[in-house]
Amino acid sequence: MIAAGLVRRSAAVLMVALLTLATSTSQTHRADARAPSGVTEFHRGVNILGYDRYWDDPAHASFTTRHFVEIRRAGFDFVRVNLFVFRHLDDSGRIDENWLKRLDWVVATARHSGLGVLMDEHDSGECAKDATLCLAKLSRVWQQLSLRYADQPRSVAFELLNEPGGKIDAPGWNRMVAQLLTIIRASNPVRPVVVYSLGMHLGEASPIPPNDRNIILTFHYYSPYRFTHQGAKFSEFRDVHGLIWGTPADREAIHEGFDRLARIAAELQRPMLLGEFGVYDKSGIPLAMRAQWVAAVACEAERHNFSWAYWQFEHDFALWDERADTWVEPIKDALLPRLPLNRPDPRC
Ligand code: GLC
Repeated sequence: MIAAGLVRRSAAVLMVALLTLATSTSQTHRADARAPSGVTEFHRGVNILGYDRYWDDPAHASFTTRHFVEIRRAGFDFVRVNLFVFRHLDDSGRIDENWLKRLDWVVATARHSGLGVLMDEHDSGECAKDATLCLAKLSRVWQQLSLRYADQPRSVAFELLNEPGGKIDAPGWNRMVAQLLTIIRASNPVRPVVVYSLGMHLGEASPIPPNDRNIILTFHYYSPYRFTHQGAKFSEFRDVHGLIWGTPADREAIHEGFDRLARIAAELQRPMLLGEFGVYDKSGIPLAMRAQWVAAVACEAERHNFSWAYWQFEHDFALWDERADTWVEPIKDALLPRLPLNRPDPRC
């Protein structure tokens, strides 16, 4: 719990660093800042299955085929599947075959429902504690997953590691990216691979091999963190309550932050994925205000040609009300307004 909290904090700090350090280059180009598109067919997605009993006991899964169908019907085109693979490795680093079959079902059912699949290795908590062990485990994970899914279409993508941080510093992460990409590219030469953009904003060597055109940059956005995580038991803001959001200055902060990120994407000539964003749902914040923040962020991402994935379908920050067995409509409407993609949206 403590380590996970540290990862979240460090990710938040890094996000702030990224936004701050890029300021100087971006101010004069705000209106032009758009990420290149092309490598990805992902547009609007949602994080799923991170905390579902499905992985250990499919008979007691909350998430079923129906949920894939609902997600597609609502208008999402991909899912980011949060995978905690480390706990399914044996001593030799082999992934449990039963677990892999469960992942096969997720990939097949999502595809059958018309959804792209981003496999997100979400073991950032463990990785934050020991970078060497993390790389050893990630190497084994990606050796096996990349071989198993090598024949999948490009609508199936890999994300090397969620929110690298803690003991993984920027130069270390860049070396890890290079090694993991070497493993994946041996069997998946053009597979879209999502890389968390730690390092480039700190002036370290770019983690993006210049000739690899199939990399998607990613970042997460929960700013202001005190607002989005107030009352969240796992965060340092568990005792904060009553913060509101929505002033012109609050909205301007999102514009500026995203403009800077789009400048980075344009400079590196890679598409950008906003892989997580959301507001904690048991915080006491009025649902309408949560929806306004979500609408502003999703709208801003689309204005910059970023793909996005809402955090998250179930569990907490939830987009799906598991008790009522239906959408949390105001959040769904905030994410999926009835407007054509990439058209100006009056909300941002
Ligand atoms: C990260 C964490 C996840 C958390 C989310 C929002 O993805 O891995 O557990 O809920 O951020 O803080």
